[in-house]
Amino acid sequence: MRFHHQKWEVLKYFFLLTFFAGSFIFSSRTNAVAAEQTAIERGEYLFRATGGCGCHTNYQDEGAEMAGGRAIKTPFGDFYSTNITPDRETGIGKWSDDDFIKAMTEGIGPDGTHYAPVFPYTSFTKMSKNDLLDLKAYLFSIPPVRQKNQSHDLFIPFGERIGFGLWKKMNFTPGRFQPDPAKSSQWNRGAYLSRALAHCEECHTPRNLQGVLKKDMAYAGSVEGPEGELAPNITPDKKTGIGEWALVDIIEVLQSGLKPDGDDLQGLMGEVIEHGYSFLKKEDLEAIAFYLKSLPPIQNQVGEQKEQEE
Ligand code: HEC
Repeated sequence: MRFHHQKWEVLKYFFLLTFFAGSFIFSSRTNAVAAEQTAIERGEYLFRATGGCGCHTNYQDEGAEMAGGRAIKTPFGDFYSTNITPDRETGIGKWSDDDFIKAMTEGIGPDGTHYAPVFPYTSFTKMSKNDLLDLKAYLFSIPPVRQKNQSHDLFIPFGERIGFGLWKKMNFTPGRFQPDPAKSSQWNRGAYLSRALAHCEECHTPRNLQGVLKKDMAYAGSVEGPEGELAPNITPDKKTGIGEWALVDIIEVLQSGLKPDGDDLQGLMGEVIEHGYSFLKKEDLEAIAFYLKSLPPIQNQVGEQKEQEE
């Protein structure tokens, strides 16, 4: 009888133990799944903050999302964006974390290709490592699409590989965003979002003959932005920039594309808003607007003179 009793005791502890071990294993597994989900969720938010990587979708021909093949016209010729879906053969599905970080921050592909600066690694180089890994987690969660990359159509002496390698040696220094301790956390958040992720400068800053952004003309507008579009002066200059806009006007335009004068933003700006910036939290849009307003005003008339309202 006693033995019988002991046996039950042992069994009871055995079951209790398995139960606890089991629930421990189960909960650590669900924790791992939860961690991964938040990485994907965080990554999706960052993806929106970049403007939604719309250059990688050929909207015009109803191409599959992020499968590339969209022609981007530049003064150097036509570039075709690449497949960044997780397809293992034609996309980036085989890329390791390091491959992804190297491409985004150094402009070098896993096979050693030097990318052209039409891929704004010149901005993404400022992203933090954690943000890059979250963004990769998101990109690896979207449906893979099998679609081969197209080669570019360029007029570049010595070919792309040498050409862009040389360009980078002369014009590009990789490096993370360094917060400015003298500025508020809101300013730093706005600067990080604008400069590392949303890459506003890549379109709104004019380039020199080598295609390098003119530092002293940051955000002062570019007559020949990507796809030949005119990108206005968005420094706080009152006459030629957006100095008359209130903070809420900038937040509104990034959220809805609607300008204070009632006009709608079109083209590439309309795209980065629709697929990207409009998904950002109000406080992040406010940080971007706050940062823009803190820039030195630069007088630079791009496009036609604004009507004088007296
Ligand atoms: C892919 C290129 C591109 C990127 C990236 C981009 N813009 Fe633009 N932006 C444009 C173009 C092109 C226009 C002109 C659109 C039009 O007139 O319909 C424009 C217009 C604007 C305007 C309207 C200015 C005016 O006077 O009408 C504002 C404000 C603006 N952008 C702010 C930003 C900010 C802030 C960012 C980054 C968070 C940004 N843009 C990123 C291309 C870009």
